[in-house]
Amino acid sequence: MQKNELYSDFFYKEATLNPTYAPDKADKEEAKIVEKFRSQPNLKEQVGFRTVSAGNLFYIARPLQIKSESCLVCHTTPEQAPASQIKTYGDKGGFGWKLNEIVGAQIIIVPASKVFDEARRLQLLVIGILVAGFVVAAIILNLFLKFSIISPLKKMSKWSKDVSTGTLDADFEHKPNDEIGVLAASVNRLKVSLEMAMNMLGQNPEKP
Ligand code: HEC
Repeated sequence: MQKNELYSDFFYKEATLNPTYAPDKADKEEAKIVEKFRSQPNLKEQVGFRTVSAGNLFYIARPLQIKSESCLVCHTTPEQAPASQIKTYGDKGGFGWKLNEIVGAQIIIVPASKVFDEARRLQLLVIGILVAGFVVAAIILNLFLKFSIISPLKKMSKWSKDVSTGTLDADFEHKPNDEIGVLAASVNRLKVSLEMAMNMLGQNPEKP
């Protein structure tokens, strides 16, 4: 695991109450984890933080259970175990295990800072996505307002100015059948009514 750069800070231990290989012996904290697995056989995982001299650690632990008779060949008595095992690991520990007994825990340990860094990274990512979403929504809203409301209104205001000063006689052109279109039709009708009224008074503004 430590050969992979991603997991170089990770540490793995098969913490065992009565280990074959002495360095696998569970320390006080690990023994508590193992005891909890032993007293609650349905418990599949424990996670938590612990502090050692090196700093704050985060751990994930799973029970190590003897599920097969075949394990017991080497883990029952020194006499039964292969001679090479006794030669290398001694006859002091790792014996007297029973079938279905939870003898230890697989524990993966990571510096807690790594866990918090990852959480912070995810938090920033989520914030980034939200901000980007809002920016895109604002841009789309802006474009929509510009094309469907602001620019037709601007055109209409210029058109009204030109009509009111007598420099234009055309109707206001606005194809879409939206609110601006309804307004444009009303304004065009207003213009026609105004022209008719002026004509009736004999004061057509175009022929003063
Ligand atoms: C051929 C003999 C042999 C068999 C079979 C065997 N083990 Fe072991 N086991 C060992 C030796 C030797 C060690 C110590 C060296 C090491 O940790 O690899 C060990 C270590 C372990 C450890 C690490 C803790 C400790 O005691 O140091 C666990 C857990 C374990 N065995 C569980 C099992 C389980 C579960 C099985 C059955 C699936 C099994 N063993 C089958 C010989 C054996």
